[in-house]
Amino acid sequence: MRVDEHFLDEIKSRLRPSDVIGKTVKLRKQGREYVGLSPFTKEKTPSFYVNDDKGQFFDFSSGKTGDVITFVQETQRLSFMEAVEQLAAEAGLTMPAHDPQSQEQDKKRQGLSDWLETAAQWFEAELRRPVGREARAYLEGRGLPEAEWARFRLGFAPGGRTALKDYLVAKGARPAELVDTGMLIAPEEGGAPYDRFRDRIIFPITDPRGRVISFGGRALDPKARAKYLNGPETVVFHKGHQLYGLAEARKIIAAAPSGETPPLAVVEGYMDAIACQRAGIAAVAPMGTALTEEQMEMLWRHHPEPTLCFDGDRAGRQAASRAIDRALPLLKPGKSFRFAIVEGGKDPDEVLREQGAAALRSQMAETTPFVEALFVRERDQEPLDTPERRAGLKGRLRQLAGTIADKDLQQAYREDLLTRLDGLFARPEREARRPWVPSGEGFGGGRKRGQWGQPPPAPASPEGKASARRLSQRMDLTAAALVKFVLADPAVLDDHLEDALTANGFGDPGLSELAREIIRLRLDHDHLDSGSLTRHLASCGYSTLLTDIDRAAATSSAPILKSDVSLEAARSQWSQAFARLSRLAALDEAIAAAKVSLGGRSAMETLGRLKGERDALKRAIRDWDD
Ligand code: UTP
Ligand code: MN
Repeated sequence: MRVDEHFLDEIKSRLRPSDVIGKTVKLRKQGREYVGLSPFTKEKTPSFYVNDDKGQFFDFSSGKTGDVITFVQETQRLSFMEAVEQLAAEAGLTMPAHDPQSQEQDKKRQGLSDWLETAAQWFEAELRRPVGREARAYLEGRGLPEAEWARFRLGFAPGGRTALKDYLVAKGARPAELVDTGMLIAPEEGGAPYDRFRDRIIFPITDPRGRVISFGGRALDPKARAKYLNGPETVVFHKGHQLYGLAEARKIIAAAPSGETPPLAVVEGYMDAIACQRAGIAAVAPMGTALTEEQMEMLWRHHPEPTLCFDGDRAGRQAASRAIDRALPLLKPGKSFRFAIVEGGKDPDEVLREQGAAALRSQMAETTPFVEALFVRERDQEPLDTPERRAGLKGRLRQLAGTIADKDLQQAYREDLLTRLDGLFARPEREARRPWVPSGEGFGGGRKRGQWGQPPPAPASPEGKASARRLSQRMDLTAAALVKFVLADPAVLDDHLEDALTANGFGDPGLSELAREIIRLRLDHDHLDSGSLTRHLASCGYSTLLTDIDRAAATSSAPILKSDVSLEAARSQWSQAFARLSRLAALDEAIAAAKVSLGGRSAMETLGRLKGERDALKRAIRDWDD
């Protein structure tokens, strides 16, 4: 019995030689290859090499060479079929049924393959003949000079109804088998088959090893019904299992300096894949459809983290979103995607033409990790201006993380997404507060890390980190004055315990930990006087912070700290000031939420109203503090 060649290819594309061979031979990575001691001789210095890109092993001590099947045959003394069966099982494939037809099928496939190759050569030749004049001008006009045609095997299908058919039939092809290749169309109502591709630039589609399996064709006539036409599903071409440009992309990856993994880009169109490859970027494209799961698995066999590229327009964003949903359940440790959005609504082909290869390379190098793309998509779905919506976001993030099949990765995603969520609400609030923090006195230098109690959760983005760093330098003087008053008169807090918890430390996030401690102590002790509160706090490590507060409060001109105010009046002023701060904290949060929401008129109006109220409030607070 014989096995189908496609089946053997499938086995080989699923198994990495270094994995299979590594079970028998201890291998060490050396550049692009693996080295070990020959399993065929008793050598002492390693001269046995495995190359995953080539799918081969080379044994210099015995002179043997071959693929994974040969290796298993030789080392386990198995027949060819036994080795195939064993490897098929390892690759998770079931052996094709032993029907007599399979040999017939294999032969038929080979026949179709041969005609596809012959046609590809003919298209290439047509491009260079007089009939291809307009096509040549078109390609050159698009910045694709003749020197590049051979590399991508670009061709031209002339306008006649049967030009290709006539040529292939004259060479011995039967029209019916040409219909099976997808190159001819058999009219439904009967009648003679005719050429599918007419008056089009031809892009041969190959399998990973470079064998032609179908074609894509771009219309020269701008009025043509379809700009691009792709071959139909056939026995050798399964659209969802193939990627345009993979054979060429593999060459680019294999040519990279040893130890480096160059990026693998997934772009939308034929011309985009070509543009990237001309700029030295390994790139592939699906053929007019969204990426299928099979294509994703295929990509991961060649790269741990392929980059999915999309246009920055609405359609591009939607395509990216669909890719996220489809890929999420499939992500595994070490197997993910990154995202690149091409600027200015351009596609890679336009960037190459208008800005050059270096610009294309640098745009493609600017990528977003999968988790961030997912988070941003969810964050931007609706305004986050109510607790219900914020909780909704949290629920969606949890649910999405839960769709990841791999349990470890699922857990890691959940943690990462929730950390980003915390950063989202913590960050804008601090930023919003910055402008009205009085500048300077006494709190610039000398501050040690950790003096502000627990550090705030690390914001995810670099600019968030930078702003957190800037803001931790200085204490809010109003907040200092409010705390100082509480320390002297703890009872003032009694009416505001709940707000004090949510207002995040009297308006300064650096004081929130202290505020929580004060509230806890107040709740634990019915009669908490100033002395015992201060002693308690000192014993839990807050002495330095209390000193800082003292100093900051001394520079504040808040009326509550003036000696000529009655206790009664001071308490009422404290309450008012505190209420303003609580409201300000709530406003900051609402504004931050309105800002991150996608926009739209109602969000803009809300934002305007909130900002107006906030400005008035800030003025009131500033006046009070002056
Ligand atoms: P685009 O419409 O984005 O075209 O289609 P493009 O690649 O930028 O083409 P140019 O630059 O105008 O030549 C992207 C991909 O979608 C598929 C093709 O695979 C194309 O490369 N497509 C597009 C079709 O299958 N049919 C169509 O009619 C259009
Ligand atoms: Mn384009």
